[in-house]
Amino acid sequence: MQKIDKMKRFRIILLCLLVSLPALAASPSNLIYGPWVSNVSETGFTVLWVTEKPSLDFVVVAPDDGSAFEKQNRPKYYQEAYGRRVSGRFHSVRIDGLEPGTSYRYRVVGQVIKDDSSPYRISYGPTRQISPKQDASVRTLSSSAAVCRFSVLNDIHYNDARYMALASGIDVPATDFLILNGDIVSYCQEIDTVAKHCIVPIAAQAARLPLIYARGNHEGRGRDFDKFYGLFPTSTGEFWYSFRQGPAAFIVLDAGEDKPDSSHEYAGQADYDPWRLRQTEWLKEAVKDPAFASAPVKICIMHVPTVKFRDSWYSEVWITENWTPILEEAGIDLMLSAHHHKWICSPAGADGKAYPVLVNSNLERMDVEVTLGNIFVKTYDEAGALVHQWEK
Ligand SMILES: [Fe+2]
Repeated sequence: MQKIDKMKRFRIILLCLLVSLPALAASPSNLIYGPWVSNVSETGFTVLWVTEKPSLDFVVVAPDDGSAFEKQNRPKYYQEAYGRRVSGRFHSVRIDGLEPGTSYRYRVVGQVIKDDSSPYRISYGPTRQISPKQDASVRTLSSSAAVCRFSVLNDIHYNDARYMALASGIDVPATDFLILNGDIVSYCQEIDTVAKHCIVPIAAQAARLPLIYARGNHEGRGRDFDKFYGLFPTSTGEFWYSFRQGPAAFIVLDAGEDKPDSSHEYAGQADYDPWRLRQTEWLKEAVKDPAFASAPVKICIMHVPTVKFRDSWYSEVWITENWTPILEEAGIDLMLSAHHHKWICSPAGADGKAYPVLVNSNLERMDVEVTLGNIFVKTYDEAGALVHQWEK
């Protein structure tokens, strides 16, 4: 017992050190969280990072071809709004015009804003590279890829040590993206804290693997809930969106809160019923999109699963009754979900829907491989041991 306590204490101290490292390193580089990549498509991606002090930063992109980064006239990308370059602490830069299925290196460079009290004379610190010396590379999506490989993590609820341990087993070069299937945090009370816990424990993976965020019910809680989207922008401007990689097309949905809007837990601020109806209208059109409809394999990602159990709560029942018919009509092959904090394998035809639903545990990482005719799912625990397998 004493031995376990010592081990636990050691892990907590180690974790605290790791979480505070970026802040300690911030003085020369100004970077505290990131960079990470989101909203990947066949021709672009968004690079995001958080700095300690407000700064005017930009991203330099180079092909991942071994050429010298510095010696070429590489394109620079700034965050832009209404014709101006945006400075601040939370940075989000869109890179477009890239080639499908191609790997690109990127570098974040910036200048701290020393004084912007005058709108006409802004003074800056020196220009410095703030991303790590070893440039990260990211691969764009490609509908013509033969295989789609991805990992899924969910329901971490601020447990940095588990998050780090589960992510450490990801084979980054062989993986196309990482799906965060909701409840990585328990609430968004303060956006700095949310960014830290979402990114720092998986910093090594998030710099190279595009993050696909399926918002959970808990990310809708807390004062800064409306700043959360800014950390994980999508192609639609909403938490519902679609993308394609190789043989697999994906629909990402958001069931919102799990209880009725009138529940006392939401303190009069929940308004999910009309919002879910808006999402329904989007879903009806999204499944008709040729890029989705023509895909050999169709996967739906949603934190709350469309299953009707005897003890299912309000939104679980609602999405099963309202979205299942649309997903069945669209020929969904598999839904990957979370929320229940345990592995659930609900086969096709059971629990109120014609397609299979897999719910990943909060204690496991799910690795998925999709080929032209098959879906292989394996889950691993923190120690890297295989726990569950599923195949279609
Ligand atoms: Fe959860």
